[in-house]
Amino acid sequence: MSLFKWVEFPSLGDERGSMVAVEMGQNKAVPFDIKRVYYIYNTEQGGSRGYHAHKQLKQIAICVAGKCRMVLDDGTSREETWLDSPTKGLLIENMVWREMHDFSEDCVLLVLASEHYDEADYIRDHEDFRQQVNQ
Ligand code: TYD
Repeated sequence: MSLFKWVEFPSLGDERGSMVAVEMGQNKAVPFDIKRVYYIYNTEQGGSRGYHAHKQLKQIAICVAGKCRMVLDDGTSREETWLDSPTKGLLIENMVWREMHDFSEDCVLLVLASEHYDEADYIRDHEDFRQQVNQ
């Protein structure tokens, strides 16, 4: 089974241009209460981000401009994909290691998060992650 769980956000475009609405709740695209939103932009060319998992936090990542390459790792398998569409969100569950690479210069990566920022929720060491996820 793929590690990639996609959430489609229909484009509400008309002749003036495109728009996406993000809603949470029953039968809505986002399966958790959004407590925090952040976005990553102006990423150093050739730089990478992430390299961590979260104990509880769930996230949806949407590349609203440009593209980047996302690697997910569940402790058993490692898969990668491109985030390159403002209408496609990637649901990243808790206890999934993520890395982001190859950001385009114009990349804006929007992240919807189920929890407030809490450094104690991070697992930043890959070996710790492998042990915790496989125990
Ligand atoms: P981090 O999550 O490590 O970034 P990435 O996974 O994209 O590489 O966050 C980078 C820094 O920003 C770190 O010092 C924590 C801080 N930060 C906050 O203060 N609030 C937040 O909501 C986030 C996501 C990060």
